[in-house]
Amino acid sequence: MRTDAKCTTSPRLYIALDVASENEALSVVSKFRQMQDLSGLPRCGFKVGLELFTAAGPGLVRRLADEDSVFLDLKFHDIPNTVYGAVRAACRLGTDMLTLHLAGGKEMCRQALIARDEAWAGLEKTGPAAKMPRLLGVSVLTSTRGDVRAIKDLVIDYASAAKAYGLDGVVCSGHEVGEVKEKCGAEFLCLCPGIRFAGGEENDQARVCSPMEAMMHGADFLVMGRPVTLARDPAQAAAAALQDMEKGLRMRK
Ligand code: C5P
Repeated sequence: MRTDAKCTTSPRLYIALDVASENEALSVVSKFRQMQDLSGLPRCGFKVGLELFTAAGPGLVRRLADEDSVFLDLKFHDIPNTVYGAVRAACRLGTDMLTLHLAGGKEMCRQALIARDEAWAGLEKTGPAAKMPRLLGVSVLTSTRGDVRAIKDLVIDYASAAKAYGLDGVVCSGHEVGEVKEKCGAEFLCLCPGIRFAGGEENDQARVCSPMEAMMHGADFLVMGRPVTLARDPAQAAAAALQDMEKGLRMRK
């Protein structure tokens, strides 16, 4: 059971459980757990997003968070009072991180932080739910195409705003991480989706980069879905991603 309020042991790689049912999710999770027990590689966490949460609900999130690190990616974007309530409820599930859209603005983000801090103050600090989730702001989705410089500038503006609001970090592509860190500081967290092995299928993602590139540029956490979960051998694909990430970490200036 984890009681690390600062999440110092968070994994660097989260596997996106973009599946349609609790059974499918648990089957994917058990394969990864076996791989991790056998390989000695660092542990992966799991990402629960809109599809699985809508299908299986908070009970599954709690169940997963009992044993593993879970990133709840529901990308809240609503009026401040509604996001306050959603964050308060999400904070009881024992997850590492939550997301909200930065397009929701200052007051929405402020209410999310208030909800998180109130929920944390009221939680019993033992057991799997005793984690203060980090709040990350979603900048520009990695599926968005367009002028590279214009997108980067928008991501940096969003990241600067997120930092000024007091959020813990942002979700951005690996191409933007370096400049976000320069602007907001090394401690400001960057989580990168849109991760693809060199030459791999992009699917609906646009601003993609490899695990090694994203880590080399300074990413703190990566999220990978299809390149791992749809691979012929998902456990082996996750192991390859973790090894590529290690290379990137060693190449950091
Ligand atoms: O399958 P793939 O690796 O593209 O999955 C990426 C995951 O990261 C998906 O679960 C998606 O919802 C999530 N994500 C993203 N872009 C963001 C934020 C989250 O792709 N900006």
